[in-house]
Amino acid sequence: MPQPSMFNHMMTRRRFIISSMAAIGGLATVSACSPEKNPGSYMDVASGIWRHGKVEAGNRSAVLRELVRYATLAPSSHNTQCWKFRIDDRSISIFPDFSRRCPVVDPDDHHLFVSIGCAMENLIQAASANGLDGNAVFDPSSRGNVRVSLEPTNAVVTPLFKAIPERQSTRAEYDRKPISMNELAMLEREGTGKGVRIIFLTERAAMESLLDYVVQGNTAQMNDSAFVEELKAWIRFSESDAVRRGDGLYSASSGNPSVPSWLGSLLFGLFFTEKNENDKYAKQVRSSAGIAVFVSEGENPEQWIEVGRCYERFALQCTALGIRNAMLNQPVEVAALRPQFGAFLGIGEHRPDLVVRFGRGSGLPQSLRRPVEDVLA
Ligand SMILES: Cc1cc2nc3c(=O)[nH]c(=O)nc-3n(C[C@H](O)[C@H](O)[C@H](O)COP(=O)(O)O)c2cc1C
Repeated sequence: MPQPSMFNHMMTRRRFIISSMAAIGGLATVSACSPEKNPGSYMDVASGIWRHGKVEAGNRSAVLRELVRYATLAPSSHNTQCWKFRIDDRSISIFPDFSRRCPVVDPDDHHLFVSIGCAMENLIQAASANGLDGNAVFDPSSRGNVRVSLEPTNAVVTPLFKAIPERQSTRAEYDRKPISMNELAMLEREGTGKGVRIIFLTERAAMESLLDYVVQGNTAQMNDSAFVEELKAWIRFSESDAVRRGDGLYSASSGNPSVPSWLGSLLFGLFFTEKNENDKYAKQVRSSAGIAVFVSEGENPEQWIEVGRCYERFALQCTALGIRNAMLNQPVEVAALRPQFGAFLGIGEHRPDLVVRFGRGSGLPQSLRRPVEDVLA
């Protein structure tokens, strides 16, 4: 799914925007008239979300609630946070929240279940840090409900757990420098699981070929008005909108300025173009150290949840090593392109699940989350 770069062109088009703003009354007037209430600055809210928690070890209900909070810090497609949790005495169940599905970009709910797997991995890492051994049990009578049983064990605080509050999907350009073989091996180890493996592309020629698939996929998505409308509905153009909703794709987290929602909507129509997006992806791929493609053996929710767990460990291991990562999933999202992409990778009938670029560079503002109360079933 593309994350729009329409504002990347704002600096060169600043004069246009300033004169547009003047024509409609100026920024100060716009802000004063905005009906949106600002319930707290974005950075304050974000720092309340992205932190390690302190709970009394003996207070079981507080510990279990804290595990849910860690789970919600996981990535999810379009930041939909498509999950619900039920806390029981010795387990936490995770259910898909189908009211938050994205039928256009994700018609078979692949990304939805990958997102659930990411949340489950955070929960299990946090359980281990709190002296609980988490084991997932799938409910065969449901579509993707999972119960994570939690049994007392010795607490193990892993580097992956420590990295949870620092992780982000960093949609910026990186520094293009390679990462070491040792680091690649660590990423491969964490990103591999039951029926899930990683194919790395680190040679420049292979990365250029990959870029061709990203551009083809992006072009198809940009020409699909249903796709564009669905994406736009999840963009939070302004700080106050992002804070009020606590979900979705906040402009600044994609490297774009935060502007009032009405203006963002207008600029989206002007700058979110096929060419701008394809140029952005070319720069992003060329600035990366490499690309990791996650490939799995099965096509069912249980397998996709495992893909999510593997990706989340990969992302946390990246974070622990000071390596950034972000997805570029167009080649796996456009169903007509997926088999050709699979043939390029040489994976036979297996499904390419996720395309992830990685490298070193600066971060962007972290995305927000809804409060724990909102995700409890
Ligand atoms: C299954 C899945 C698919 C995603 N696809 C993309 C993508 O194609 N492009 C992208 O920029 N981000 C993608 N993301 C990242 C989400 O947009 C991101 O996790 C979310 O906005 C929350 O931000 P955070 O990861 O920084 O916490 C994906 C995440 C998941 C779990």
